[in-house]
Amino acid sequence: MKSITFNHQNTSAIGIGTWHIGEGNNKKTESEMAAIRYGLDHGINVIDTAEMYGEGKSETLVGNVIKNYNRQDFQLISKFYPYHATPKLIEESLKASLKRLQTDYLDLYLLHWRGQTPLVETVAGLERMVKAGLIRNWGVSNFDRKDLEELLSIPNGENCRINEDLYNIGSRGIEYSVLPWQKEHHMSFIGYSPFGSDDSEYLKIQPIVTEMAQQKHITVHQLLLGWVLRNHNLLSIPKTGSPEHMESNIEAVDVTFTADELEQLDKAYPAPKHEETLEMI
Ligand SMILES: NC(=O)c1ccc[n+]([C@@H]2O[C@H](COP(=O)([O-])OP(=O)(O)OC[C@H]3O[C@@H](n4cnc5c(N)ncnc54)[C@H](OP(=O)(O)O)[C@@H]3O)[C@@H](O)[C@H]2O)c1
Repeated sequence: MKSITFNHQNTSAIGIGTWHIGEGNNKKTESEMAAIRYGLDHGINVIDTAEMYGEGKSETLVGNVIKNYNRQDFQLISKFYPYHATPKLIEESLKASLKRLQTDYLDLYLLHWRGQTPLVETVAGLERMVKAGLIRNWGVSNFDRKDLEELLSIPNGENCRINEDLYNIGSRGIEYSVLPWQKEHHMSFIGYSPFGSDDSEYLKIQPIVTEMAQQKHITVHQLLLGWVLRNHNLLSIPKTGSPEHMESNIEAVDVTFTADELEQLDKAYPAPKHEETLEMI
């Protein structure tokens, strides 16, 4: 598996997304657990979850899988709601997440999106959890460049390790300023929803994508994931509840594009030419 430097560590180029996992019947749950196991057994070493996902059901399912794995072999990321972003509530949320995940630490704990709590309080709460040994590091999600700059201006804000934003071929806004800013500040980037999530409303597949995928003898999903990973040192976290799709996503890490192919895709999905409002799902 192709690797990247992420969170100061050597990491697989894709992680395991887990939104909507753990919410179905037994058959679905079995397939989702098998998919995560397939990923971990074939070189993926990051899992992304959140207290929000199924109100804890995703974390519970992930916990039931990872209890059979060596905890040091993968990075575990979870996130807390913005309305749990005070020091007291961060601690409560974190301890509940750790219990569901059947582990005693997270590699990264993220503020899921910005809310009303001043960042200075949230950072103080996160730093306290690092000192307590319950998280190795912390980060944020759905932050744009201005949010990141504000974060850096407060005490210990520079300890933010990562930012996780929407990134796929149809949502390229972060390429203009967020990605360059994070590169300059040595902050790792996670791109979520590489396929535009479950809903085709979020990502319109243009004919060129289908045609190019056919020419390259890959699936549309493999093209979309390969495109996200094409030249940036970023982590993409596709979600799948199917072991077959997980296998296909792992294969997509090796998809390459010629300059001409990238140009054709740029015509259908233009790169941003100015700073855009951050898109979120
Ligand atoms: N920080 C945030 O605010 C935020 C927001 C959204 C998402 N996320 C994270 O990012 C992860 C990924 O984003 P997402 O779940 O929104 O959507 P996504 O990964 O873009 O798309 C998931 C959809 O693609 C399908 N799929 C996956 N691999 C496939 C394949 N090889 N062939 C065909 N279909 C395939 C899945 O169905 P199957 O399950 O049937 O394969 C599912 O319907 C989330 O799970 C979550 O961990 C974070």
